[in-house]
Amino acid sequence: MSLPPDIALRSRILTCNDCGLRATCKQPVPWRTSPPGSSKVRAVWLGEAPGAEEDKTIKPFVGPAGQYLSGLVCRIKDPMGFVNVVCCRPPSNDFKVAKKEKAQERCRQNLEDQVAILDPEVVVILGGNALSSFKKGAIGEWRGKLWREKFAGKARWFSATFHPASALPGRNTKRRFGSTEKLTSEWMEQDVSMIVDVLDMLDGPLVNAAMKTFTKLEEGASFRPLDWLLNELKENKEEAEKVVMRVLNEHGGGERAEKALCVLRMLE
Ligand code: URA
Repeated sequence: MSLPPDIALRSRILTCNDCGLRATCKQPVPWRTSPPGSSKVRAVWLGEAPGAEEDKTIKPFVGPAGQYLSGLVCRIKDPMGFVNVVCCRPPSNDFKVAKKEKAQERCRQNLEDQVAILDPEVVVILGGNALSSFKKGAIGEWRGKLWREKFAGKARWFSATFHPASALPGRNTKRRFGSTEKLTSEWMEQDVSMIVDVLDMLDGPLVNAAMKTFTKLEEGASFRPLDWLLNELKENKEEAEKVVMRVLNEHGGGERAEKALCVLRMLE
């Protein structure tokens, strides 16, 4: 009798010995979900590798960075997954060792299979090391953007923000972008708010209709969704009003109608 796919994958990861990191960590650390035991999630938070607490408990994002992340994302009520691009803890959390061991490449199948099992609509990459599994460039270039990418069997939305460890008290460095200086934690709050909006909008009739009407996205293009939506709507105000009114007529009032009206008001 064959095992259910999630149990088979969990046991494959737990017995994986495909790179040099396995010799120094306690255990490989497969995904976890919130609430525990969810079989499908809407968002996956994707980190770099387990730290000391994760290595001990065999659960991703349960140490200080994980607790900070949980605080940031607790207002999302949908099921979520927590995954790392590398399942084994590098010695002293030094990701340079993971790079030297080619752990990202060797763990790639584990990553793809975990995402395929969780089947999220949105994958949020946390920090530059995890980003390097997908994109060239610095995390500051990609944070707060949204792009579509085929991964683990289907096209999914991707976004990125800083790694939560870089926002921990004491590590909360100021980062400079253009002339604005902000704490990493403020940028992360802003990025997570955007993800909350995206999750809310993705299954919403307004955005589905607006996307169908306005989308000019090319494969691989990235954009800041709210700016994009507003700009598109601004340029096509008459058409935008028709879309919003049609959505309101078809779907009635409520929270989404309020959002739609906010968009219209901002256009005036
Ligand atoms: N940092 C990560 O990137 N992943 C974890 O699981 C914990 C801390």
